Amino acid sequence: MCPCPEVDVQDLKQWVGQCIRVRGWVANRRTTKNVVFIVLRDGTGFVQCVVDRQVLGDESYRQADKLTLETAIEIEGTVREDARQIGGVEIQVRHWRVLAPSRDYPIAKKAHGIDFLLENRHLWLRHRRPWAIMRIRNRLIMQIHQFFQARGFLQLDAPILTANACEGTTTLFETDFFGEPAYLSQSGQLYGEAMAMAFKRIYVFGPTFRAEKSKTRRHLAEFWMVEPEMAFYTLEETMDLMEELVRTLVLDVLQHCTFELSLLERDPTPLQNIQKPFPRLTYDEAVRIIRGEQPVNGKTTLDLLAEDEQTIQQQIHQYQQQIQQLEKEIPHIHNEKKRNWKIHELTVAKEHLHELQQTVRNIPLWREQLQHFPYGEDFGGAHEGYLTRLFDTPIMVYRWPREIKAFYMKEDEQDPRYVKGVDMLAPEGYGEIIGGGERETDVEKLLTQIRRHRLPEEIFQWYLDLRRFGSVPHSGFGLGLERFLAWVCGLKHVREAIPFPRYYGRLTP
Ligand code: 4AD
Ligand code: MG
Repeated sequence: MCPCPEVDVQDLKQWVGQCIRVRGWVANRRTTKNVVFIVLRDGTGFVQCVVDRQVLGDESYRQADKLTLETAIEIEGTVREDARQIGGVEIQVRHWRVLAPSRDYPIAKKAHGIDFLLENRHLWLRHRRPWAIMRIRNRLIMQIHQFFQARGFLQLDAPILTANACEGTTTLFETDFFGEPAYLSQSGQLYGEAMAMAFKRIYVFGPTFRAEKSKTRRHLAEFWMVEPEMAFYTLEETMDLMEELVRTLVLDVLQHCTFELSLLERDPTPLQNIQKPFPRLTYDEAVRIIRGEQPVNGKTTLDLLAEDEQTIQQQIHQYQQQIQQLEKEIPHIHNEKKRNWKIHELTVAKEHLHELQQTVRNIPLWREQLQHFPYGEDFGGAHEGYLTRLFDTPIMVYRWPREIKAFYMKEDEQDPRYVKGVDMLAPEGYGEIIGGGERETDVEKLLTQIRRHRLPEEIFQWYLDLRRFGSVPHSGFGLGLERFLAWVCGLKHVREAIPFPRYYGRLTP
């Protein structure tokens, strides 16, 4: 091999016309009569490499044709501009060699179920979809730091091993701290408040833990949360900051991650709407909308539900026809490959039909849940789903009933039955991505709440001290990174938004 420079695939555009070297893995291979096309991935990107029989000879062509998925290879060749290719370039191969073999790679090209893929998460991470998602995750993390640092916030860390609950005792992971019970942190907020009194504006950015025994698309047992906490901020100023943060991050992704979003086939329109102001509704108003009593731009949640029902019925009809057709066709197909493919199609169609039939059966239940939403309760997935689909930007719901919110929330000055909490809900049915608000500053009121929530008083003495020594108004919030990323990328499931998800039923790989 000649001494040409080794480059990252992501930089190939700068090397058009020149000879370079890349090392990576075989992501795909396709052979025609005289050419083997290898899609090489090196972690920084994907590039098509052309092994031409006329240039490299029969033997090299035959060996290249045998390359299996995820074989590690080194390639030397010339970079050519080609607008049709990903990255706008391809490599005309001059030499290539195997660095390490790969046999029976388990993730084939055909569609796998999500459980199989998660079981193989250590390998699945190499594929395009996770590649795009993780690069957007990285971009968001970097820009979150940028956003707060530029506004004079200090990043400080809260402990993960704690003696107290922050978000209620039902979702604590207990562990043993030298013979004493300790809990994995549900939120860095309480420590964030202490640090805000010491440094004015801070943010905690770390892993948080919730023992959620639920397998929903929105819940992880371990997730990352960024939690700013600001001395002297009111609820209104906090809502302004939340809005500015989310808008800034989404605009940055739209500008810098176009390729990643296109790989994910994410429709950018809902993200582009982020320029518009985010509506702010009280809990009471949100309840009226959820119940279908108050339309948004001429439409109610019940109208949406009726539309859904109609769409699903149409889809069911289409799948039933497709299944009927396939069942008629298959016995007459003699080519085995073609028959297997049709059988696969049939299985997939039946799965979809089954799912749709289940959904349609749930619709009367959802209608009931929306229409008769009990005032004073927290919103569930279906409520948030239909509420947010009526808007084309995130919305903020504030002034919540005391009963359903955490002990630290500040009492509303006008009515003690309410607290000055706020949730941000993402559109397209995604729902809550941020929770926060103003914190109680009155030591007696806080003590009453600690007792009402049956939290251990002794352990909260340090937290009460923050109200004994110069108690000032202060506020903060927590943005769940995976929930936010799932919305930005248009993912069905938060499990795809973290490299190695932890949730009820999964601790490996
Ligand atoms: O609404 P939460 O429980 O609020 C707090 O923890 C506050 N102490 C934050 C603060 O004010 N500093 O959680 C905040 C966010 C949610 O809006 C959601 O995005 C995310 O954390 N979240 C989860 N994400 C994934 N899986 C779970 N089980 C989550 N629980 C909360
Ligand atoms: Mg919440």
